[in-house]
Amino acid sequence: MKGVILAGGLGTRLFPLTKATNKHLLPVFDRCMVHYAIDNLLRAGIDHILIVTGGPHAGDFLRVLGTGKDLGIRHLEYGYQEGEGGIADALSIAEDFADASPVTVVLGDNFTDADLGPAVRGFEQGAHLFLKEVPDPRECGVAVFDTDDPGRIIAIEEKPEQPKSSFAVTGFYIYDTRAFDYVRRSEPSARGELEITTVNNFYIDDGLMTWGELDGLWLDCGSFDGLFEANRVVAESRRRGEPRFLPVANGAREP
Ligand code: G1P
Repeated sequence: MKGVILAGGLGTRLFPLTKATNKHLLPVFDRCMVHYAIDNLLRAGIDHILIVTGGPHAGDFLRVLGTGKDLGIRHLEYGYQEGEGGIADALSIAEDFADASPVTVVLGDNFTDADLGPAVRGFEQGAHLFLKEVPDPRECGVAVFDTDDPGRIIAIEEKPEQPKSSFAVTGFYIYDTRAFDYVRRSEPSARGELEITTVNNFYIDDGLMTWGELDGLWLDCGSFDGLFEANRVVAESRRRGEPRFLPVANGAREP
């Protein structure tokens, strides 16, 4: 299993903070947002990682992460997404890196303390989603379940005005190599992007989708509220002396 962190975009929701750097390099307490995404993968045993970035500040990643060795990454690659083609377009950049291996994909602004490891180790083929029940999923992809078989997903709807369930699709996914063919078969959505939801619906239609609940906290650090909350959660966790958000690698905080 390899790991892909999608860390592009212009971060417009966080202007003016993102005028001078990439959203995923903003602080969450004493580390950058992207460090937590990297640790999510490392904790799941994934140490071959591709970071797909984009926008005007992509070069900042090299200065912050370098080779990734002191973070515990064995092999770190960078990819560059031109334009704003969407999450599925960014994923397509990972095809050569994946080299037919399955990939765990993390949206770099999604923040969690959940352990992705069991799903990663149990993955065989197709795709796997991590869902989270939330009070209002209208800004997310939302699972539609079979009324006769409530555990079976029959579709994902992207940002529906009237969600058919309260289960949001979080920004953690596991895909086999079919994902890249599904991206090629995708058409841009109304917002002009290739949607990850389109890729997920191809897997569902072909009977190749499994899912589990994201067993932990889930925050969207791409909004001011989510970013503030992640900072608060990590600061309090540290104050209590918990290991939860400590760097996986010992040397991770050395200059
Ligand atoms: C994207 C996906 C959406 C998912 C969300 C999780 O949305 O399109 O399905 O629920 O990430 O963060 P967006 O990046 O447009 O907020």
